[in-house]
Formats: sequence, structure tokens, C-alpha cells
Amino acid sequence: MPPISRRDLLSSGLALSASSLLARSAWARTAAAFADATNAAALPAVAPREQLLFDFGWKFTFGHGSDPAKDLGFGVDQGDFAKTGDFKFAKSGYDDSKWRSLNLPHDWGVELPLVHDDELMSHGYKPLGRRYPETSVGWYRREFEVPAADKGRRTWVEFDGAFRSVIVFVNGCFIGRNDNGYAPFRFDLTDFLAYGEKNYIVLRVDASFGDGWFYEGAGIYRHVWLTKMDAVHLGNYDSWIRPTLNGNAATLALATTVKNDSAAPANAKVTWKILDPSGKQVATAEAAAQSIAADGSANYTATAKLSAPALWSVDTPNLYTAIVRVEADGKTLDAEKVTFGMRTAQFTADKGFFLNGKPLKIQGTCNHQDHAGVGAALPDSLQWFRLAVLREMGGNAVRTSHNMPTPEWVEACDRMGMMMMCETRQMSSNPEGMAQLEEMVKRYRNSPSIILWGIGNEEWQLQNTMSEQGARIGADMVRRCHELDPTRVVSAAVNGDNEKGVSTALDIIGFNYNLKFPDKYHAGHPKMACYGSETSSAIGTRGIYTTDKLRNWVNSYDGVVPWGETAEEWWKFYGTRDWLAGGFAWTGFDYRGEPTPYKWPSINSQFGIVDMCGFPKDNYFYYKAWWGKEPSLHLFPHWNWEGRDGEEVKVWVYANTDEVELFVNGKSQGSQKVPQLGHVEWKVRYEPGSIEARGSKGGKVILTEKRETTGAPSQIRLTPDRTTINADGEDVAVIKVEALDKEGRFVPTADNQLSFSVSGEGRLIGVGNGDPNCQESDKDPKRSLFNGLAQIIVQCTKHAGDIQVEASRDPKAEDRAELMPAKLTITTRQVELRPAVPVTGAHE
Ligand code: GAL
Repeated sequence: MPPISRRDLLSSGLALSASSLLARSAWARTAAAFADATNAAALPAVAPREQLLFDFGWKFTFGHGSDPAKDLGFGVDQGDFAKTGDFKFAKSGYDDSKWRSLNLPHDWGVELPLVHDDELMSHGYKPLGRRYPETSVGWYRREFEVPAADKGRRTWVEFDGAFRSVIVFVNGCFIGRNDNGYAPFRFDLTDFLAYGEKNYIVLRVDASFGDGWFYEGAGIYRHVWLTKMDAVHLGNYDSWIRPTLNGNAATLALATTVKNDSAAPANAKVTWKILDPSGKQVATAEAAAQSIAADGSANYTATAKLSAPALWSVDTPNLYTAIVRVEADGKTLDAEKVTFGMRTAQFTADKGFFLNGKPLKIQGTCNHQDHAGVGAALPDSLQWFRLAVLREMGGNAVRTSHNMPTPEWVEACDRMGMMMMCETRQMSSNPEGMAQLEEMVKRYRNSPSIILWGIGNEEWQLQNTMSEQGARIGADMVRRCHELDPTRVVSAAVNGDNEKGVSTALDIIGFNYNLKFPDKYHAGHPKMACYGSETSSAIGTRGIYTTDKLRNWVNSYDGVVPWGETAEEWWKFYGTRDWLAGGFAWTGFDYRGEPTPYKWPSINSQFGIVDMCGFPKDNYFYYKAWWGKEPSLHLFPHWNWEGRDGEEVKVWVYANTDEVELFVNGKSQGSQKVPQLGHVEWKVRYEPGSIEARGSKGGKVILTEKRETTGAPSQIRLTPDRTTINADGEDVAVIKVEALDKEGRFVPTADNQLSFSVSGEGRLIGVGNGDPNCQESDKDPKRSLFNGLAQIIVQCTKHAGDIQVEASRDPKAEDRAELMPAKLTITTRQVELRPAVPVTGAHE
């Protein structure tokens, strides 16, 4: 089959969705946008710059946090850094044959066994930290060739993020360090490389210290790149494009910085080509040549005008591209692509938020970055999958709590039309805090999805006892954001009354929980715009309807922590006050760590509107009813209450119809008006059979939903998010595993133990079931169903072909169930691969 470009795949988005069982619009759009975004041509580098994916062919071994003898001898005699070029483990001849081979992104944390140690609770009971030296340090090693022709160019190694303290060595030389888990970092390797020869890069990654109070992973969990450019090149994240909209025209302010890393002065100009969303050139601009001293840099600015700009919005995420070139003597020395969008985003004190001049409530969720099966090391397509789940619910915004996100998440938001509050990790004006903030703002300031910057979360010292320092630290951070990006407002997530400390420095005010504060604050500060930076913290266990403290279960009707609000409570508050811009519910997805409300054996939080796999809990449908644009109706609980005949059961319906009528075994239980932003409920006596809800609008039944008492599980069903994925060694199919009864009905209580096999052009990279108390491995090819569901994540190879997936009853299962196995074939299609550093020699 001839290679097809991802553009072709884009057009096949329709075919993908038609053949997929998830053929709904948000999913179809996601698949199409994903194909477009991960196109090799979508990388920022433009020739002659080369940006090579450096993810494949690494070796890995554990080191040791306290015993140098078990840490490759690093630090044995205190003389390691004495001479440049002496680190033997980063030179040829070092034997790494016993190290494990793997590809990045990689999170070794998720591979570790769980340990019942209460001190490990917030990070998900994984043996990481100074008390677990044998599993807290990892070494990565990779051989790579650098062509002789690269001499004279600048070669950088670029990390999108790693957890956490990293020391980089190349060819025996110490190169540099990075000491936080979320900001990108890069090193210029030019002087250290052996041209036309083999080179060796080694990283010591130490996860002994954490950055947060939630699961953070361990290792190189984001992409790595080897980027090669001319000695006269564009500065890192220095290009920005600021559109000003004026009637039916736009003026673009364009700027960049050119660095001259050569030994001689250079004379270079900069040109811009602006492409519209269809790729058509719509404007050009040029900044005159300047002389740049050796080791110096120069700033360039220009403007461009265009008419009839296609605006970016949550419904029409139109993206423009600027191709920025550095030119000298008619030759392009360096170039990059910057995507941006045209939109206005305005927070007002009296009428809330406006996108492109139209009022829009922020219907947002906060999210951490880990997922079932893979921990913090998410393949790009999984980022898209997660956003599509939230989008499908009617979400239009996400907050990247509590750290700078990975670039694929931001890009997916840009392309899907999800707005974003982009938050940095460390609230501090110390050099590290400021560096993290600057990286974040510079890297993402061209992304139209970002509508506000967050400088921190619940820094209670800076809000209270150290409020004077908080005001100064906040002011420094806000000022720096404004310098780097005068187009966006800056905020923080504050769990107090916002009257002092860091709040005094903010452009707009974010409230975490505490519904008692916003009205009072608004009365006293009528000129400040406000929103809910973090709300809700409702809790629930998917598919569970009775709170059971012995089993660590929370009912799915109205569970909430004492400091929080149910979905209904917070949205009735924020959704009905015009002056509030909306808010971000804690959380979209469940996440490892912070196992609220229970501790061990719970290993993850129960705050999610969806579970760790992205399977909706019932309150997902509250949001879908009131945030979504489509008619929606959801009936719960399930109707499998064996042994509870005659007992009273609460039946709830989330719907946005006028009325809902409930039937038990065909008998009407009465009709009820659906209260605005509320739900309807009945108490009925259980009898096997069915319940049915009929939702009507204008007197006509427009939606119905039925729950039937099912038989025992007798077969398995596998449903992928997409049936065709890319054969690029990166893409994944996310497969839903369900138990069905003989009649093909989903069995909502099934807990069968299953095993999986994957063969052909793919491999299993993770499993999950959304059970906050499940301590089974994320990596073994088996899993119990939790309330009828499990998830398996299958990754392609680089060869086009078929992947066969099979799910069957685990032969070691303790139950005696007879389950018909299920088979599924995923097709992988050859695509234009993103350029990558070739894998050579022993690392092949
Ligand atoms: C907030 C905090 C979040 C999470 C949440 C749980 O106070 O910002 O990170 O801990 O509580 O309710």
C-alpha cells in the first residue's frame, strides 16, 4: 500500500467515524483534527531546521538514591565532576546490554508495585521518594549517530518534560540539570558531539522529590527531540503573533528574536508568511536586515494586515499559521511554523466572559495528567481521547491543574476548540519559579485556546500568614506574564476570600470552593471579574449506588467532600450569576493519588466526572444535560438488584427536556417537570424487569432510556475508539471491554476476571477498569471488569497491518462463569512518519 499522508487520513476521518462504534460528532471531529495535528508537516520545524523525534530505542535501568555502588558508581568518590569528559557510562564501550529496551514516553512509576505506606498516599502508594532509594532513580541511555555534515550547525536536545530532577551527560561530559517535573528544558549539544560518529546520551532521572500532592509519575514521560539548526537561528519560543481585530479585518503584530551563535557577525532579515486555515497564503511581512554580533541577538518586528479573518472559537477552532524565516543573502538560514488564532477573550466584572464579543460561560474541568494503564506517559492520541470525553459532555474549557501541560494537550485544545486556563507549578518569584512561568508563557502564548494564565493554586501561606510576601511574589509573577504576553489576564486559584496576599496582584479573581465568598467579594469589588477556579469536588464510584465505607465506595447520586459542592450546587451558583464567568469543576478525570474520600486500599481519587479510564459516572450526564447543546436524558441506577425485591430504590434522571415520566415494568410512576439546572427523582420499590424514563418537550416524547434487569455475563464485547490507527509506533487504540448477557445487554455489575492477548502490528501498553480500589497491575495483560467495564490500550508498531486483540475469561479466574471470548481487529495504516533520530547498533 503506498504511504498516505495524514491529510489523507483527515479525509478518512469520516470513514473512521462511520466504521467506529463511537461515530458521534465530537469523536469524528477529534479523529480528523488528530490526524491533522500529528501530521509530520505539522511540526514547528521548517527546513532547513530539522526536528527529530528522539523517543525510540532507549535503554533503561534503575539506579539508587543513596548507594552510589548501585547507581552506576555515580558519586562513589566525590570526584565525578572533576574533569570534563570523564563519565564512562556516557561513552562508547559502556555495557548497557543488561539494561531494558524501551521507547519514550515512559513512566516507571506506574510500573511499580503498590506499597501500603501512608506517607505515599498522595502520590498513589508508589514506592517513590527518599525512603525508597532503589526505585526512585532511573537511568536512560541512548546511542545516536550525528552526520559529519552537521558540523557547523547547532544541535539541541529538547525535553518536553521529565519527572523530576534530571542530570544530562553526553559523550562523557556533564551537560546540565533540570529540577522540576513539568517545564520543558533543552541543552545545546553542539560543542560536545562527535560528528560523523556515534554519540552517547545518558540521563539520570531522580524522582525522590515531588512537585505536587498527587500522582506525578517518574521518568522521561514526555517527548524528546533532537533539533538541528543554523548557527544563526530563531530564538526558542521567541516568535509571537498578536492579532488585533477591527471590524472585518485583522492586524497582526509580528515579532521574533534571532540569535547568532557563530563566531562571526551576521546580517539577516526576517520574513513572515501567513497561511489561513486552509493553508492558503493570505499575507506576508518582512523586517529589514540587521547586523547581529557574534554571540549576539537581535529583535525583529513587523505587521501584516488581512481581511475577513476566520475567527477561532469553541465551535469553529480556525487556526492560522505563520512561517517565520531568517534569511541572509537570499538564503533561508532557519525557519519555524507558529500556529495561532484570531479571537478576542474578555473577562468583565458585570457580565462574565466574552469570546469574540459574545457571552460564553466557562464550562470547565480541572484535570491532572495521568490515565489508566500508562500513568503520566500518555501517547499523543490519548490526550485527544481524554479531551474528546470532556467535550462530548459539553465541556468547553480545561484547567491544567496544577502544572504546565504537555504541548500535545495544548495543541489538541487549539484544534478542538477547548479553552484553557494554563497554570504553572511553582508560585514563586525565585529564579526557578520565574523560569517555569516564563517557559510556560513563552511556549504557549500563541495558542488561542488559552484564555488566562494561572500563577498558582491554594498557596495558603501566601494568602494568609505571609500575605505581604504573597502580594509581592504575585505582583512579580503577574508583571512578568504581562511583559511576555500583554494580551491575557493573569489569575490564581485561591481558597479564601481573595481579600489579601497574592489576590491583590491578580487581574481576575478565582475562587476555589467556598460559595460563601464570591457574592460578598463582588459587592465589595464591583470592578473585578470573577470565576470559579476550582469548584465541586463531588465524589462518586462509577456504577455504585450505595455508599459503603467498608468497601471504599461512594454512591453516585450526591457524594461530595465537606468543602465541596455537588455538580448541581456549584453550577446553580455559577451558571445563574451573569457576572460570574463560569468555572472549572474538580475534576474531569479521576487521577491516581489523593485517594479521597477513602485511603488504602483506594489508590486513586474519586473526584472525577469520569473514572481513570474516561468511563462516565452518572453526574457526567448532569453536565451533558446543562452544558451540552443536544437534548439529553440519563436514567439511573441500573436495574440489577438481585435479592432486594420490594426494597426502596432512588431513581434519578438528568435531562434537559421539559418533563420526564418514569415507568416501572410499564407502569407509570408519574411525570415531573425538570427544574432548571436540576434533576428529577422518584423512590420506587424494586422488582426485576425494567425502568424506563420518557422525556418530553412541548408535550412530545423526544427521548427515552431504559434499564433492564439482565442475566449473568455470557459474552465479552470489545469496542475501540477508532478501528483504524496510524502505523507510526506511537498511535493507540483505546478499547472498551464490556460484559454482556445472553441477549446482548450490558451487565452493569459484572466483575469477571479477563485476560487479553494482542498480536500482529501492535502491543498492549496498559489496562484499567476505573475502580479506585483495584490494585491489579496496569501493565499485565489481564484485568477484572469493574461494574461491567475495563479498558485496554493498544499501541501500533511502525508497520502497517492488522492488530488482533482478544479478550477471554482469565483461566485463573476464581469464578465459574462461562464467557464467550471476543475478538477485534484494528487496522494500522502507513503514514508519513515524523522524522526521528535513527535507532542504531545495540539500541536497535
Ligand atoms: C483542592 C486542591 C486540589 C485537590 C482538591 C481536592 O483544595 O486545589 O488539588 O486537592 O482540593 O478536593
